[in-house]
Amino acid sequence: MGPNFILKGNICYCETPERFTIVEHGVLVCKEGLVEGVYQEIPEAFADFEVRDAGEKLIIPGLVDLHLHAPQYTFRATHMDLELLEWLENYAFPAEAKYKDAEYARKAYGIFVDRLRDSATTRACMFGTLHVEATEILMELLEKSGLHTMVGKVNMDRNSPDYLREESADVSGEATVEWIKDCKKKFRNTKPILTPRFIPSCTDELMENLKKIQLHFQLPLQSHLSENLSEIDWVQELCPTSAFYGDAYDQFGLFGADCPTIMAHCVYSSDEEIRRMKENGVFVAHCPESNMNLASGIAPIRKYMQEGLKVGLGSDVAGGTKEDMFAAMMHAIQCSKLRWRVIDDTLAPLTASEVFYLATKGGGEFFGKVGSFEPGYEFDAVVLDDSRLKDVEPVSVADRIERFIYLEQEEDIRAKYVAGKEVFWR
Ligand code: GUN
Ligand code: FE
Repeated sequence: MGPNFILKGNICYCETPERFTIVEHGVLVCKEGLVEGVYQEIPEAFADFEVRDAGEKLIIPGLVDLHLHAPQYTFRATHMDLELLEWLENYAFPAEAKYKDAEYARKAYGIFVDRLRDSATTRACMFGTLHVEATEILMELLEKSGLHTMVGKVNMDRNSPDYLREESADVSGEATVEWIKDCKKKFRNTKPILTPRFIPSCTDELMENLKKIQLHFQLPLQSHLSENLSEIDWVQELCPTSAFYGDAYDQFGLFGADCPTIMAHCVYSSDEEIRRMKENGVFVAHCPESNMNLASGIAPIRKYMQEGLKVGLGSDVAGGTKEDMFAAMMHAIQCSKLRWRVIDDTLAPLTASEVFYLATKGGGEFFGKVGSFEPGYEFDAVVLDDSRLKDVEPVSVADRIERFIYLEQEEDIRAKYVAGKEVFWR
């Protein structure tokens, strides 16, 4: 398949959170890797484009996972009995330490990347570990997968065991620079993103080093924010001069002011923190399943959307159990309903189109024009087959999408394109 082609099927995407845009039995035109347009019939001008007919199947934008931990995939869906800080010490840190061994990393990351490739995810931002070699192995595998991703070598030089801590801020900074230079030589679609683990893991000197590195290489950044109550108290103790958690990043210029930034979780962001995120254009990665599994809480996503923050969804493997972004959408709806019922009845639950928007165009904005079928967007598309569900009477496309969010299985994902390139058709 060349750079110009047409997909036929039931096309569905969200330009805004309020509603689905649907063209039944429509055509989606890809020109030079970009969406040219969505039409009812093939326009004369594209009559010579190759056509792939998906029949009754659904065609949606590829899904975007704004936050996950690739090394934690090995222990997904186990060890959910502790809250964040104890969970890190007992499970996440020992699991990540294994990636010192490149052979182990190649096996474990091989399994993870195969699964991500087979999912509906076309773009993802993820954490590796502090190990440069293992992180480059992960990036090499992702580059081969056809997905477009941002990957972070993690920085951490305090408050973790000797076996998973960098010796000093300078050692961490130097390793980061070496890694960034390698990435520029080796990868096209797998980009480095600065990744201070979270405030408790990084000394002031390390944050200062990372700011210099960010300004020199102009790199985006990802980290964690206001996820858990004990974590928030600890940050206040560690940084007594910060006005709120996000300010502890901002005092080093690492809170979105200069470069695009993702903060995962934001379960307990104060009004001040929300205001700063808005001013600085910080992206919130909402990770509802993780927030349930680690008993962190429920983030007020409708409030963030009303305030005009940029919001996307994350699986947060292995706080979350799976790489499946349909599950993330389902959990976002379900969490928001419990929050509305139990915590705050002024924030209405999220709807199917709203979570679909978050998983496509909302998170996609971090990658540029990604996550929609509006003209000029990168051609990321997924073909879904829900015939397994066997209907007696016709079901509307909007209802089929909503149902897919709840009932999807991996084998229903029949084709995937990223930036106009076919990843699979099966
Ligand atoms: N905060 C710092 N590290 C982590 C992590 O690995 N997972 C989650 N959920 N939160 C974190
Ligand atoms: Fe996380």
